[in-house]
Amino acid sequence: KEIAFIFDLDGVIVDTAKYHFLAWRNLANSLGFEFTEEHNELLKGVSRVRSLEILLEIGKVELTAAQKQTFLVQKNTEYLGYVHKMTSEEILPGINDLLDYLDANNIKYALGSASKNAPLILEKVGLFNRFAAIVDGNDVSKAKPDPEVFLIGAEKLNMQPKNCIVVEDAIAGIEAANAANMLSIGIGDAKLLSEANYVLADTNGFTRDFLENIMK
Ligand code: BG6
Ligand code: MG
Repeated sequence: KEIAFIFDLDGVIVDTAKYHFLAWRNLANSLGFEFTEEHNELLKGVSRVRSLEILLEIGKVELTAAQKQTFLVQKNTEYLGYVHKMTSEEILPGINDLLDYLDANNIKYALGSASKNAPLILEKVGLFNRFAAIVDGNDVSKAKPDPEVFLIGAEKLNMQPKNCIVVEDAIAGIEAANAANMLSIGIGDAKLLSEANYVLADTNGFTRDFLENIMK
């Protein structure tokens, strides 16, 4: 049967969480509180605006709408500084082989990311032209765990949701995939991602055996 893949970007194709972390931590520090890697876990898969809200809850800081806007721009400006230095070296292990395998087998794939910076990041790592469709934070009105981003992806690929396989590292992303009635593959901690149909510890897990097995 014909199937397609829809990939999350941050944490699946590239490890940008470390750059988000640096930028959010600097912002938290400038507001006078600590921001740890553990806190950063809460922001994975979450939109930029919602991320700031969570960060402010952690620091118990209240800001006006105008201040929030200023800090969102400040955070993204710092983040873009890191993104601009990215190269294809930062594509996570196994991903290039996986995309080669999909191409060789005529399996279409799209990107389904919450990030408004997704097209730029794909450009920087040289993957922009490989995706049949790109759906990012600029295209959706409802963030993950809402299924919108993946449903638009399926539509752009001309595929039925039930024939799509989503690859995600965030709990909200797995929930979105499940809500879209797609097969979900979690990348990361099997306990955290227990709602996924399959969980791989990392992107090295996309062996030929695994792929042939899930596509049966
Ligand atoms: C998601 C990341 O992919 O994109 C989140 O996991 C991030 O951490 C979100 O906040 C939005 O990204 P951006 O690039 O639009 O700020
Ligand atoms: Mg992610």
